[in-house]
Amino acid sequence: MTRILGISGSLRRDSHNTGLLRAAAEAAGPEVELVLYEGLKEIPPYDEDDDGHPRPASIARLNRAIATADAVLFATPEYNASIPGQLKNAIDWVSRPVATNVLRNKPAAVVGASTGGFGAVWAQAELRKVLAALGARVLDLELPVPHAHTRFEEGELTDDKIRTNLAEAVEALAAEIRRREGMKVVA
Ligand SMILES: Cc1cc2nc3c(=O)[nH]c(=O)nc-3n(C[C@H](O)[C@H](O)[C@H](O)COP(=O)(O)O)c2cc1C
Repeated sequence: MTRILGISGSLRRDSHNTGLLRAAAEAAGPEVELVLYEGLKEIPPYDEDDDGHPRPASIARLNRAIATADAVLFATPEYNASIPGQLKNAIDWVSRPVATNVLRNKPAAVVGASTGGFGAVWAQAELRKVLAALGARVLDLELPVPHAHTRFEEGELTDDKIRTNLAEAVEALAAEIRRREGMKVVA
């Protein structure tokens, strides 16, 4: 069984981005378990003075969730043309120490939804940049979901094309995991 951790960059209850991850979990094949991370709001502002031993429990939890997942699927809103602050803050925490950070070599993919016409493409591009800088194996895919408020009814995704695209993104992550596991066997 392949385990994918879903991290939504939105904290709000009726988030379209969290809705995308829920739809991705439902669309995933039987070999994939996609679990949504629920503790992003508990993460304190990054302060290097607090980044000692032991680390805050909320950070240890996020670190463990990423470490025990085979891959991470991010769904990010776009806030003022960039990544939401709390998502970036969480990534800043888990990025330390950078040489051994938990995202290094971790397969990762980014999708995103916004209520505007561009589907959070800038936020997705920035998040891919940040993840790549930390050494994650960032998939070269983008899934912009513009006008997100028109694609959900009572929290459920109603757009079948996006559902298919989400399933493809999850499958691409699963294929990357299989490819890496194959390389380990050869090595
Ligand atoms: C602080 C803030 C900044 C925003 N900036 C952008 C933006 O730059 N581009 C955009 O397309 N939408 C922007 N939006 C609208 C978001 O796309 C919209 O609120 C979206 O629903 C957020 O995702 P969520 O539903 O997952 O919470 C912004 C919203 C907020 C609250």
